[in-house]
Amino acid sequence: MQNSQSRRQILLACATGMLASANGKADAFSIGKSIQIQAGEDLMQEHGILGRTLLIYEELADLFEHDKPDPQDCLPGATEIIIKYVQGQHERVEELLIFPALTKANALPDLVSVLVTQHKVGHELTNTIKKKTEQGSHKTKQGRLDLANLLKMFSTMFRPHMLREDTVIFPRLHEIMNEAQYEELSTKVQSLESNMVNSTDLGSILRQLEGIEGALGIHNLAKFTAEIAPSNQT
Ligand SMILES: [Fe+2]
Ligand SMILES: [Fe+2]
Repeated sequence: MQNSQSRRQILLACATGMLASANGKADAFSIGKSIQIQAGEDLMQEHGILGRTLLIYEELADLFEHDKPDPQDCLPGATEIIIKYVQGQHERVEELLIFPALTKANALPDLVSVLVTQHKVGHELTNTIKKKTEQGSHKTKQGRLDLANLLKMFSTMFRPHMLREDTVIFPRLHEIMNEAQYEELSTKVQSLESNMVNSTDLGSILRQLEGIEGALGIHNLAKFTAEIAPSNQT
């Protein structure tokens, strides 16, 4: 068993980045802080990025369904985050390291099969969204409706996808591996991510996300707080 001191120390990618505070403004994050992060936490942070991008997709779908334009051409940026960060990094880690580890242990084969299929369908949907955007679909009423449908399809598929990974796939890794094996997997995940071509750190992606959220007016977390009507108050 390895003690915590011998575990890998990872320079948190967002150490030089900015994190959104509750009021939607960016706060400087401490610089150069070295922390330990393991595979599950790493991948769940990436799911956080995916989830916020899905919120952007859902906001754009709502605008398009009401025949409203993309206010500041936000869709290409959001699609780029999906292509480069979610599909180019996160899904590759799952397919190269996480799913094979489960398959080797004959764990959750049916679920892994569905998840892999959904990655592929996600790529097809994304290619179509990108192509339609480049062709200017968002500039016509019918094109906006088509895009809204595609964006909702993507979101509808990936919300349960990532939640199933968070609650079933990643926890199962602890059951099929001892601590040393899990440490080794965590190191491999970090190494693979940092060696990928066009590897993008969490801080850069967060800044990109915050810019798009700001353009859409969904950057202020307080805006999402439920307002309870007096008749529903106890
Ligand atoms: Fe996945
Ligand atoms: Fe995932």
